[in-house]
Amino acid sequence: MTHADVDATRTAYDDMAQLYTDFVRGHLATQPFDRAVLGAFAELLRADESGPVADLGCGPGRIAAHLVSLDVPTFGMDLSPRMIELARAEYPGLRFEVGSMEELTIEDGALAGLVAWYSIIHLPPERVPHVLREFHRVLRTGGHALLAFQAADAADTVLGFDHKVTRAYRWSPDRLAELSREAGFTVIARMVCARRPDERFDSGYLMLAKVADPVR
Ligand SMILES: C[S@@+](CC[C@H](N)C(=O)[O-])C[C@H]1O[C@@H](n2cnc3c(N)ncnc32)[C@H](O)[C@@H]1O
Repeated sequence: MTHADVDATRTAYDDMAQLYTDFVRGHLATQPFDRAVLGAFAELLRADESGPVADLGCGPGRIAAHLVSLDVPTFGMDLSPRMIELARAEYPGLRFEVGSMEELTIEDGALAGLVAWYSIIHLPPERVPHVLREFHRVLRTGGHALLAFQAADAADTVLGFDHKVTRAYRWSPDRLAELSREAGFTVIARMVCARRPDERFDSGYLMLAKVADPVR
């Protein structure tokens, strides 16, 4: 199904792709908590050699590249063709493809892991449960997912905000955790980092596992 907001997001990121790529280049090196979460994710995945890892909404590919540098075989996928062009140019040895996380063409249980790093934020909230179910479907049992997002302060809340590139939503970690559980995941870790002076919002992280018998 095509949604007008998806076209708007694709066009906005196509238009801003070079600017965004230049903006985030080297950013991870300034973010110890981002690296800590990605390091823990990589450690879980290195112990599991059963399949590839997908970076969904990869933008210019920096998270996929970071995971590869941590010995986690990762490919990237993004809605924006221009972002994918730039990701391929930045990291010529890695695989990047155009696609939508709402219409994954990945087979059931094909992935050992997936990361959605500030990319589910552009989905209208009512479509997030479907995407979380899709994430659960494409992971093998025993696989892990990692979500990063701008965090809302109050529990049980999702709030629209002006993201500068295009419409986006920040989530309370509790609410996103609840939806993740409803999609079949077990929430194995969560973290909230207070905004720094140059940031507008706290950052939220959820680490999810697909286990055989989830505890609700
Ligand atoms: C804030 S950027 C984050 C990019 C990258 N994860 C990073 O941290 O550098 C959001 C990215 O999500 C992508 N995106 C938004 N909606 C998407 C969707 N439905 N499917 C795939 N990618 C999507 C956008 O094109 C954009 O590149």
